[in-house]
Amino acid sequence: MLSTKVFRPIASRGLKAASTWAKVPQGPPAILGITEAFKADTNSKKVNVGVGAYRDDAGRPYVLPSVLEAEKRLVQKDLDKEYAPITGTGNFTTAAAQLAYGADSAPLKEGRVAITQSISGTGALRIGGAFLERHYPYAKTIYLPNPSWANHKAIFNDSHLKVETYRYYDKKTIGLDINGLLEDVRAAPKNSVFLLHACAHNPTGVDPTPEQWAQIAQEIQERGHFAFFDMAYQGFASGDTNKDALALREFVKKEIPVALCQSFAKNMGLYGERVGAFSLVAESAEEKKRIDSQIKILVRPLYSNPPIHGARIASEILGNPELNNQWLGEVKGMADRIISMRDALKGNLEKLGSSHDWSHITKQIGMFCYTGLSPEQVDRLAKEHSVYGTRDGRISIAGVTTGNVEYLANAIHKVTSS
Ligand SMILES: Cc1ncc(COP(=O)(O)O)c(C=O)c1O
Repeated sequence: MLSTKVFRPIASRGLKAASTWAKVPQGPPAILGITEAFKADTNSKKVNVGVGAYRDDAGRPYVLPSVLEAEKRLVQKDLDKEYAPITGTGNFTTAAAQLAYGADSAPLKEGRVAITQSISGTGALRIGGAFLERHYPYAKTIYLPNPSWANHKAIFNDSHLKVETYRYYDKKTIGLDINGLLEDVRAAPKNSVFLLHACAHNPTGVDPTPEQWAQIAQEIQERGHFAFFDMAYQGFASGDTNKDALALREFVKKEIPVALCQSFAKNMGLYGERVGAFSLVAESAEEKKRIDSQIKILVRPLYSNPPIHGARIASEILGNPELNNQWLGEVKGMADRIISMRDALKGNLEKLGSSHDWSHITKQIGMFCYTGLSPEQVDRLAKEHSVYGTRDGRISIAGVTTGNVEYLANAIHKVTSS
Protein backbone atom coordinates (compact mmCIF):
# COMPACT_ATOMS: atom_id res chain seq x y z
CA MET A 1 0.00 0.00 0.00
CA LEU A 2 1.27 3.52 -0.79
CA SER A 3 2.10 5.73 2.18
CA THR A 4 -0.33 8.59 2.71
CA LYS A 5 2.31 10.67 4.49
CA VAL A 6 2.71 14.06 2.73
CA PHE A 7 6.31 15.14 2.00
CA ARG A 8 7.00 18.69 3.14
CA PRO A 9 10.13 20.46 1.86
CA ILE A 10 12.64 21.51 4.54
CA ALA A 11 11.98 25.24 3.96
CA SER A 12 8.29 24.86 4.72
CA ARG A 13 9.21 23.20 8.03
CA GLY A 14 11.11 26.40 8.94
CA LEU A 15 14.57 24.81 8.52
CA LYS A 16 16.41 26.55 5.71
CA ALA A 17 19.40 24.50 4.55
CA ALA A 18 22.71 26.39 4.42
CA SER A 19 23.70 27.45 0.89
CA THR A 20 26.17 25.15 -0.79
CA TRP A 21 28.42 28.20 -1.27
CA ALA A 22 28.02 29.67 2.20
CA LYS A 23 31.71 29.22 2.93
CA VAL A 24 33.07 30.82 -0.25
CA PRO A 25 35.21 33.70 1.00
CA GLN A 26 35.07 37.19 -0.47
CA GLY A 27 38.12 37.86 -2.66
CA PRO A 28 40.05 41.16 -2.55
CA PRO A 29 39.02 43.97 -4.92
CA ALA A 30 40.68 43.69 -8.33
CA ILE A 31 42.76 46.32 -10.11
CA LEU A 32 39.55 47.36 -11.89
CA GLY A 33 38.79 49.32 -8.72
CA ILE A 34 40.79 52.17 -10.27
CA THR A 35 38.51 52.29 -13.30
CA GLU A 36 35.46 52.33 -11.03
CA ALA A 37 36.85 55.22 -8.98
CA PHE A 38 37.82 57.06 -12.18
CA LYS A 39 34.34 56.63 -13.65
CA ALA A 40 32.69 57.90 -10.47
CA ASP A 41 34.89 61.04 -10.35
CA THR A 42 33.07 64.11 -11.72
CA ASN A 43 36.19 66.29 -12.19
CA SER A 44 36.35 67.10 -15.92
CA LYS A 45 40.15 67.10 -15.72
CA LYS A 46 40.40 63.57 -14.32
CA VAL A 47 43.14 61.32 -15.75
CA ASN A 48 43.23 57.52 -15.80
CA VAL A 49 46.81 56.28 -15.84
CA GLY A 50 45.84 52.88 -14.47
CA VAL A 51 44.70 51.33 -17.75
CA GLY A 52 46.69 48.53 -19.34
CA ALA A 53 45.60 49.29 -22.89
CA TYR A 54 46.80 51.78 -25.48
CA ARG A 55 44.88 55.01 -25.97
CA ASP A 56 45.26 57.53 -28.80
CA ASP A 57 46.15 61.16 -28.23
CA ALA A 58 42.49 61.93 -27.59
CA GLY A 59 42.42 59.26 -24.87
CA ARG A 60 40.28 56.88 -26.95
CA PRO A 61 40.72 53.14 -27.56
CA TYR A 62 42.54 52.63 -30.85
CA VAL A 63 41.56 50.10 -33.51
CA LEU A 64 44.50 49.80 -35.88
CA PRO A 65 43.63 50.67 -39.52
CA SER A 66 45.56 47.53 -40.60
CA VAL A 67 43.23 45.46 -38.40
CA LEU A 68 40.15 47.08 -39.96
CA GLU A 69 41.56 46.40 -43.42
CA ALA A 70 42.33 42.76 -42.52
CA GLU A 71 38.77 42.32 -41.25
CA LYS A 72 37.38 43.76 -44.48
CA ARG A 73 39.42 41.29 -46.49
CA LEU A 74 38.30 38.41 -44.27
CA VAL A 75 34.64 39.26 -44.79
CA GLN A 76 35.19 39.26 -48.55
CA LYS A 77 36.71 35.78 -48.33
CA ASP A 78 33.39 34.41 -47.07
CA LEU A 79 35.12 31.97 -44.70
CA ASP A 80 33.39 29.28 -42.67
CA LYS A 81 33.28 29.08 -38.89
CA GLU A 82 34.52 25.52 -38.45
CA TYR A 83 36.72 24.54 -35.48
CA ALA A 84 40.43 25.32 -35.68
CA PRO A 85 42.87 22.46 -35.02
CA ILE A 86 43.76 22.01 -31.31
CA THR A 87 46.97 24.02 -31.63
CA GLY A 88 45.46 26.63 -33.93
CA THR A 89 45.73 27.34 -37.61
CA GLY A 90 49.11 26.69 -39.19
CA ASN A 91 49.10 30.01 -41.04
CA PHE A 92 48.88 31.88 -37.80
CA THR A 93 51.39 29.90 -35.74
CA THR A 94 54.00 29.92 -38.54
CA ALA A 95 53.68 33.68 -38.95
CA ALA A 96 53.75 34.28 -35.18
CA ALA A 97 56.90 32.18 -34.77
CA GLN A 98 58.62 34.03 -37.62
CA LEU A 99 57.73 37.36 -36.11
CA ALA A 100 59.26 36.38 -32.77
CA TYR A 101 62.25 34.23 -33.66
CA GLY A 102 63.02 35.92 -37.01
CA ALA A 103 62.41 34.36 -40.41
CA ASP A 104 66.04 33.21 -40.61
CA SER A 105 66.03 31.57 -37.17
CA ALA A 106 67.90 28.25 -37.21
CA PRO A 107 65.42 26.28 -35.05
CA LEU A 108 62.56 27.48 -37.25
CA LYS A 109 64.34 26.45 -40.42
CA GLU A 110 65.18 23.11 -38.85
CA GLY A 111 61.54 22.52 -37.93
CA ARG A 112 62.17 22.26 -34.19
CA VAL A 113 59.91 24.97 -32.75
CA ALA A 114 56.81 23.47 -31.16
CA ILE A 115 54.08 26.12 -31.19
CA THR A 116 50.45 26.39 -30.33
CA GLN A 117 47.97 29.21 -30.65
CA SER A 118 46.78 30.36 -27.22
CA ILE A 119 44.15 32.51 -25.54
CA SER A 120 46.38 35.58 -25.79
CA GLY A 121 49.46 35.99 -23.59
CA THR A 122 47.74 34.87 -20.40
CA GLY A 123 46.68 31.60 -22.03
CA ALA A 124 50.20 31.08 -23.37
CA LEU A 125 51.62 31.50 -19.87
CA ARG A 126 49.05 29.08 -18.48
CA ILE A 127 49.82 26.41 -21.10
CA GLY A 128 53.54 26.96 -20.42
CA GLY A 129 52.97 26.58 -16.68
CA ALA A 130 51.03 23.36 -17.21
CA PHE A 131 53.68 22.00 -19.57
CA LEU A 132 56.49 22.70 -17.10
CA GLU A 133 54.52 21.19 -14.25
CA ARG A 134 53.94 18.03 -16.24
CA HIS A 135 57.21 17.61 -18.12
CA TYR A 136 60.05 19.73 -16.73
CA PRO A 137 62.49 17.16 -15.38
CA TYR A 138 64.05 19.37 -12.66
CA ALA A 139 62.67 21.36 -9.72
CA LYS A 140 59.19 22.68 -10.51
CA THR A 141 59.97 26.18 -9.34
CA ILE A 142 59.73 29.30 -11.46
CA TYR A 143 61.68 32.46 -10.63
CA LEU A 144 59.88 35.74 -11.38
CA PRO A 145 61.44 39.19 -11.40
CA ASN A 146 60.61 41.32 -8.39
CA PRO A 147 58.30 43.01 -9.19
CA SER A 148 56.50 41.35 -12.08
CA TRP A 149 53.11 41.52 -13.76
CA ALA A 150 50.78 40.63 -10.88
CA ASN A 151 49.06 37.83 -12.79
CA HIS A 152 52.30 35.83 -13.22
CA LYS A 153 52.25 34.60 -9.63
CA ALA A 154 48.60 33.56 -9.83
CA ILE A 155 49.09 31.80 -13.17
CA PHE A 156 52.05 29.74 -11.99
CA ASN A 157 50.51 29.02 -8.59
CA ASP A 158 47.45 27.69 -10.38
CA SER A 159 49.79 25.61 -12.56
CA HIS A 160 51.09 24.05 -9.31
CA LEU A 161 54.59 25.43 -9.72
CA LYS A 162 56.48 26.87 -6.79
CA VAL A 163 56.98 30.60 -7.33
CA GLU A 164 60.18 32.35 -6.19
CA THR A 165 61.51 35.78 -7.11
CA TYR A 166 64.82 37.21 -8.26
CA ARG A 167 66.03 40.76 -7.75
CA TYR A 168 65.18 43.06 -10.63
CA TYR A 169 64.22 46.60 -9.69
CA ASP A 170 66.40 48.93 -7.67
CA LYS A 171 64.30 51.42 -5.73
CA LYS A 172 67.25 53.71 -5.16
CA THR A 173 68.13 54.17 -8.83
CA ILE A 174 64.60 53.52 -10.17
CA GLY A 175 66.46 51.23 -12.57
CA LEU A 176 67.71 47.68 -12.99
CA ASP A 177 69.45 45.93 -10.11
CA ILE A 178 71.75 44.08 -12.49
CA ASN A 179 74.16 42.90 -9.79
CA GLY A 180 71.36 41.56 -7.60
CA LEU A 181 69.78 39.90 -10.64
CA LEU A 182 73.02 38.19 -11.67
CA GLU A 183 73.72 37.08 -8.09
CA ASP A 184 70.26 35.51 -7.82
CA VAL A 185 70.64 33.74 -11.16
CA ARG A 186 73.98 32.38 -9.97
CA ALA A 187 72.62 31.34 -6.57
CA ALA A 188 69.55 29.45 -7.85
CA PRO A 189 69.87 25.64 -8.04
CA LYS A 190 71.12 24.43 -11.42
CA ASN A 191 68.44 23.95 -14.09
CA SER A 192 66.03 26.44 -12.54
CA VAL A 193 63.34 28.13 -14.63
CA PHE A 194 63.64 31.93 -14.96
CA LEU A 195 60.80 34.01 -16.32
CA LEU A 196 62.13 36.94 -18.34
CA HIS A 197 60.12 39.83 -19.75
CA ALA A 198 61.46 39.97 -23.32
CA CYS A 199 60.89 43.74 -23.54
CA ALA A 200 58.90 46.55 -21.93
CA HIS A 201 58.97 45.07 -18.44
CA ASN A 202 55.61 45.36 -16.71
CA PRO A 203 55.23 47.10 -14.24
CA THR A 204 58.57 48.94 -14.13
CA GLY A 205 59.32 49.83 -17.77
CA VAL A 206 62.94 48.97 -16.88
CA ASP A 207 64.64 46.73 -19.47
CA PRO A 208 68.20 45.39 -19.46
CA THR A 209 70.51 46.95 -22.07
CA PRO A 210 71.82 44.60 -24.82
CA GLU A 211 75.09 44.29 -22.83
CA GLN A 212 73.17 43.38 -19.68
CA TRP A 213 71.12 40.82 -21.62
CA ALA A 214 74.41 39.25 -22.72
CA GLN A 215 75.51 39.01 -19.07
CA ILE A 216 72.17 37.50 -18.05
CA ALA A 217 72.34 34.98 -20.91
CA GLN A 218 75.82 33.95 -19.91
CA GLU A 219 74.87 33.32 -16.26
CA ILE A 220 71.70 31.48 -17.26
CA GLN A 221 73.66 29.28 -19.64
CA GLU A 222 76.44 28.54 -17.16
CA ARG A 223 73.92 27.42 -14.54
CA GLY A 224 71.95 25.31 -17.04
CA HIS A 225 68.81 27.33 -16.35
CA PHE A 226 65.72 27.40 -18.54
CA ALA A 227 64.63 30.78 -19.96
CA PHE A 228 60.88 31.26 -20.05
CA PHE A 229 60.22 34.42 -22.07
CA ASP A 230 57.06 36.45 -21.77
CA MET A 231 56.85 38.75 -24.79
CA ALA A 232 53.58 40.65 -24.45
CA TYR A 233 54.86 43.85 -26.08
CA GLN A 234 56.86 43.00 -29.22
CA GLY A 235 57.16 46.22 -31.23
CA PHE A 236 55.50 48.23 -28.53
CA ALA A 237 58.71 49.07 -26.67
CA SER A 238 60.99 50.51 -29.34
CA GLY A 239 58.58 50.61 -32.26
CA ASP A 240 60.65 47.94 -34.01
CA THR A 241 59.55 44.30 -33.74
CA ASN A 242 63.07 43.00 -34.49
CA LYS A 243 64.74 45.20 -31.90
CA ASP A 244 62.23 44.16 -29.22
CA ALA A 245 62.93 40.47 -29.94
CA LEU A 246 66.68 40.92 -29.47
CA ALA A 247 66.94 39.19 -26.08
CA LEU A 248 64.94 36.15 -27.18
CA ARG A 249 66.94 35.80 -30.40
CA GLU A 250 70.27 36.13 -28.56
CA PHE A 251 69.32 33.35 -26.16
CA VAL A 252 68.22 31.14 -29.06
CA LYS A 253 71.44 31.84 -30.94
CA LYS A 254 73.41 30.78 -27.86
CA GLU A 255 71.30 27.58 -27.76
CA ILE A 256 69.95 28.30 -24.30
CA PRO A 257 66.74 26.28 -23.90
CA VAL A 258 63.77 28.64 -24.14
CA ALA A 259 60.00 28.81 -24.07
CA LEU A 260 58.08 31.82 -25.35
CA CYS A 261 54.69 33.36 -24.65
CA GLN A 262 53.42 35.84 -27.26
CA SER A 263 50.49 38.18 -27.19
CA PHE A 264 48.92 40.20 -29.99
CA ALA A 265 46.79 42.19 -27.56
CA LYS A 266 49.04 45.25 -27.45
CA ASN A 267 50.95 45.27 -30.73
CA MET A 268 47.84 44.68 -32.85
CA GLY A 269 45.36 46.17 -30.40
CA LEU A 270 43.53 42.81 -30.42
CA TYR A 271 42.89 42.86 -26.65
CA GLY A 272 39.48 41.25 -26.64
CA GLU A 273 40.16 38.87 -29.53
CA ARG A 274 42.59 36.89 -27.34
CA VAL A 275 45.30 36.05 -29.86
CA GLY A 276 48.59 34.62 -28.66
CA ALA A 277 51.00 31.72 -28.94
CA PHE A 278 53.10 29.46 -26.76
CA SER A 279 56.24 27.90 -28.19
CA LEU A 280 59.17 25.78 -27.10
CA VAL A 281 62.44 25.35 -28.94
CA ALA A 282 63.27 21.64 -29.11
CA GLU A 283 66.63 20.04 -29.83
CA SER A 284 65.42 18.16 -32.88
CA ALA A 285 62.41 17.86 -35.16
CA GLU A 286 61.71 14.49 -33.57
CA GLU A 287 61.66 16.02 -30.06
CA LYS A 288 59.42 18.83 -31.35
CA LYS A 289 56.92 16.23 -32.56
CA ARG A 290 56.73 14.65 -29.12
CA ILE A 291 56.32 18.06 -27.47
CA ASP A 292 53.57 18.96 -29.96
CA SER A 293 51.70 15.80 -29.06
CA GLN A 294 51.86 16.66 -25.34
CA ILE A 295 50.76 20.25 -25.91
CA LYS A 296 47.69 18.86 -27.67
CA ILE A 297 47.01 16.59 -24.69
CA LEU A 298 47.14 19.65 -22.42
CA VAL A 299 45.04 21.97 -24.55
CA ARG A 300 42.24 19.56 -25.46
CA PRO A 301 40.68 19.30 -21.98
CA LEU A 302 41.30 23.01 -21.29
CA TYR A 303 39.38 24.57 -24.20
CA SER A 304 39.46 22.04 -27.09
CA ASN A 305 40.70 24.51 -29.68
CA PRO A 306 41.33 28.24 -29.92
CA PRO A 307 39.09 31.01 -31.30
CA ILE A 308 39.55 31.74 -35.00
CA HIS A 309 38.66 35.35 -35.72
CA GLY A 310 41.59 37.17 -34.08
CA ALA A 311 44.09 34.62 -35.39
CA ARG A 312 42.75 35.17 -38.91
CA ILE A 313 43.24 38.92 -38.54
CA ALA A 314 46.81 38.43 -37.32
CA SER A 315 47.59 35.95 -40.13
CA GLU A 316 46.16 38.32 -42.73
CA ILE A 317 48.38 41.12 -41.46
CA LEU A 318 51.52 39.05 -41.00
CA GLY A 319 51.08 37.13 -44.24
CA ASN A 320 50.55 40.04 -46.60
CA PRO A 321 53.69 42.15 -47.23
CA GLU A 322 51.83 45.37 -47.92
CA LEU A 323 49.47 45.05 -44.93
CA ASN A 324 52.39 43.93 -42.78
CA ASN A 325 54.29 47.10 -43.65
CA GLN A 326 51.28 49.20 -42.82
CA TRP A 327 50.95 47.43 -39.45
CA LEU A 328 54.65 47.91 -38.64
CA GLY A 329 54.15 51.63 -39.26
CA GLU A 330 51.17 51.67 -36.91
CA VAL A 331 53.07 49.80 -34.18
CA LYS A 332 55.82 52.38 -34.52
CA GLY A 333 53.22 55.13 -34.33
CA MET A 334 51.92 53.78 -31.00
CA ALA A 335 55.43 53.33 -29.58
CA ASP A 336 56.47 56.81 -30.75
CA ARG A 337 53.44 58.43 -29.18
CA ILE A 338 54.31 56.78 -25.87
CA ILE A 339 57.96 57.84 -26.15
CA SER A 340 56.93 61.42 -26.94
CA MET A 341 54.58 61.49 -23.93
CA ARG A 342 57.47 60.36 -21.71
CA ASP A 343 59.51 63.30 -23.02
CA ALA A 344 56.59 65.68 -22.50
CA LEU A 345 55.93 64.49 -18.94
CA LYS A 346 59.57 64.84 -17.94
CA GLY A 347 59.85 68.20 -19.72
CA ASN A 348 56.78 69.57 -17.94
CA LEU A 349 58.04 68.42 -14.53
CA GLU A 350 61.33 70.18 -15.17
CA LYS A 351 59.55 73.31 -16.39
CA LEU A 352 57.60 73.38 -13.15
CA GLY A 353 60.92 73.49 -11.31
CA SER A 354 60.72 70.02 -9.75
CA SER A 355 63.91 69.33 -7.85
CA HIS A 356 63.62 65.56 -8.40
CA ASP A 357 65.57 63.67 -11.03
CA TRP A 358 62.94 62.46 -13.50
CA SER A 359 65.36 60.96 -16.02
CA HIS A 360 63.94 57.47 -15.37
CA ILE A 361 60.71 58.53 -17.11
CA THR A 362 62.51 58.65 -20.46
CA LYS A 363 64.99 55.87 -19.68
CA GLN A 364 62.18 53.38 -19.10
CA ILE A 365 60.38 51.87 -22.04
CA GLY A 366 56.97 50.51 -23.06
CA MET A 367 53.55 51.39 -21.86
CA PHE A 368 54.36 51.65 -18.16
CA CYS A 369 56.44 53.99 -16.09
CA TYR A 370 57.48 53.30 -12.53
CA THR A 371 57.48 56.84 -11.20
CA GLY A 372 58.99 56.12 -7.80
CA LEU A 373 55.91 57.68 -6.15
CA SER A 374 54.92 56.20 -2.77
CA PRO A 375 51.47 54.66 -2.17
CA GLU A 376 50.58 57.74 -0.10
CA GLN A 377 51.55 60.07 -2.95
CA VAL A 378 49.44 57.96 -5.36
CA ASP A 379 46.52 58.31 -2.93
CA ARG A 380 46.99 62.08 -2.91
CA LEU A 381 47.09 62.13 -6.73
CA ALA A 382 43.63 60.56 -6.76
CA LYS A 383 42.14 62.51 -3.87
CA GLU A 384 43.50 65.97 -4.62
CA HIS A 385 43.95 65.86 -8.41
CA SER A 386 41.65 63.12 -9.77
CA VAL A 387 44.65 61.26 -11.23
CA TYR A 388 44.24 57.50 -10.95
CA GLY A 389 47.18 55.07 -11.03
CA THR A 390 48.19 51.94 -9.14
CA ARG A 391 49.55 52.27 -5.60
CA ASP A 392 52.94 50.84 -6.59
CA GLY A 393 53.58 54.17 -8.36
CA ARG A 394 53.09 52.71 -11.84
CA ILE A 395 51.48 54.96 -14.42
CA SER A 396 50.37 53.92 -17.87
CA ILE A 397 51.89 56.35 -20.35
CA ALA A 398 49.18 55.22 -22.76
CA GLY A 399 46.77 57.27 -20.65
CA VAL A 400 48.85 60.44 -21.15
CA THR A 401 47.92 62.82 -23.98
CA THR A 402 49.04 66.22 -25.26
CA GLY A 403 45.82 67.49 -23.68
CA ASN A 404 46.47 66.20 -20.13
CA VAL A 405 50.25 65.93 -19.78
CA GLU A 406 50.65 69.40 -18.29
CA TYR A 407 47.89 68.77 -15.76
CA LEU A 408 49.40 65.39 -14.87
CA ALA A 409 52.89 66.86 -14.44
CA ASN A 410 51.50 69.57 -12.22
CA ALA A 411 49.69 67.00 -10.06
CA ILE A 412 52.84 64.86 -9.74
CA HIS A 413 54.90 67.94 -8.92
CA LYS A 414 52.46 68.97 -6.20
CA VAL A 415 52.41 65.60 -4.43
CA THR A 416 56.19 65.19 -4.65
CA SER A 417 57.09 68.67 -3.43
CA SER A 418 54.86 69.10 -0.39
C1 LIG B 1 53.88 41.09 -18.84
C2 LIG B 1 52.57 40.65 -19.40
N1 LIG B 1 52.44 39.39 -19.79
C3 LIG B 1 51.30 38.94 -20.31
C4 LIG B 1 50.21 39.75 -20.45
C5 LIG B 1 49.00 39.12 -21.03
O1 LIG B 1 48.09 39.85 -21.67
P1 LIG B 1 47.00 39.20 -22.63
O2 LIG B 1 46.52 37.95 -21.97
O3 LIG B 1 45.96 40.25 -22.72
O4 LIG B 1 47.68 38.92 -23.92
C6 LIG B 1 50.29 41.10 -20.04
C7 LIG B 1 49.15 42.00 -20.11
O5 LIG B 1 49.06 43.05 -19.57
C8 LIG B 1 51.52 41.55 -19.51
O6 LIG B 1 51.68 42.81 -19.12
